[in-house]
Amino acid sequence: MPLSHPIAAFPGSPQPRIVAPIDPPPPGHGEVLCRTLQLGVCGTDREILHSLRPVCPPGEEFLVLGHECLAVVEEVGEGASAVRPGDLVVPVVRRPRTEAKHRVDMLEFGQYTERGIFFEHGFSLPLWLDRPEFLYRVEPRLSDVAVLAEPLAVSEKAVNEAFAVQRGRLGTQAWTDPPPRVLVTGMGPIGFTAVLAAAIRGCPVAMFGRDAHDTFRAKLAQRFGAKYLSDAATLKCENVERDGYDLVLECTGSDEVMLAAAAALASRGVMVWLGSSRVPAPSTHNVARLMRDGVIRNHVHLGTVNAAPRDFVDALAHLAAWHERQGDDLAALITNRVYGEEALWHYEHRQPQGIKTVVMYE
Ligand code: BGC
Repeated sequence: MPLSHPIAAFPGSPQPRIVAPIDPPPPGHGEVLCRTLQLGVCGTDREILHSLRPVCPPGEEFLVLGHECLAVVEEVGEGASAVRPGDLVVPVVRRPRTEAKHRVDMLEFGQYTERGIFFEHGFSLPLWLDRPEFLYRVEPRLSDVAVLAEPLAVSEKAVNEAFAVQRGRLGTQAWTDPPPRVLVTGMGPIGFTAVLAAAIRGCPVAMFGRDAHDTFRAKLAQRFGAKYLSDAATLKCENVERDGYDLVLECTGSDEVMLAAAAALASRGVMVWLGSSRVPAPSTHNVARLMRDGVIRNHVHLGTVNAAPRDFVDALAHLAAWHERQGDDLAALITNRVYGEEALWHYEHRQPQGIKTVVMYE
């Protein structure tokens, strides 16, 4: 049976719990009532649980999880004309708390809420109110994969930021011809969406992971056109300018992998950090080497989080393009569709060859 209740994180507990639905009032002026259809489970959900300290909405005892979502518009309040009942929508995660001076994805902690992550309940509710400016309409033909739009937008931001920096310092034609040689480290959902975001722009892509070459994920990476590398030795370049990379999309959050990848970054290269540990532990690594290479080769190390409206637009366009080009491979990124309480297991565990688990609400 599909799930019809919210999944929540409680302070002090690593286990997700099913709680009673919280029924919203009818949509007011400028508001839209949405119903969740599909919900992606993400590493951030697991980290929230693992941290034992979910950031709950003020005055509440728990945080309803869920920030990757496909929903349907049920009812539209007066003055909310941008969407209509029956429209399929993907909501954005982050919202500014007050009028913001920067793009929403660039705000500092405290200036925004993130649904299902910081200070606001997420989309496993499964009925919730929103405003049309936070909803992106999606075509019904993309309904099977639209839940991937949010994680893809996160990777689109990484690539767009890298291009913006590079064009700012090297000129508007930088990375046009030839496109940057891209290395993606990590084989989780963000690693895979990073491959999608880079390959669709015509970049040659390599993916680095721990899996053996004949495994499902390694083969899927190759179907998206990525060269698969599984041995850290393959990152060692005899001649970094000739054999290295111009753009590294670091999706493991491992300092060790990041340092190995940084050594393979050619001159003028950009490394984007998409992953990190919520509870960083000190370790002994040769950071001086990273600094030496960074200085001599004019590297940029760039941290990114969340996604700008520009990145959501790109994510939806690129989902449509991949759907057209390789629909089955795109759908294969969703390695599990789970119903009912079976979903809970996936909030605490990862399957060895799993990529994205989707909780079905209908
Ligand atoms: C989400 C982002 C969010 C980030 C930090 C990620 O899992 O996809 O939208 O900004 O977590 O909270």
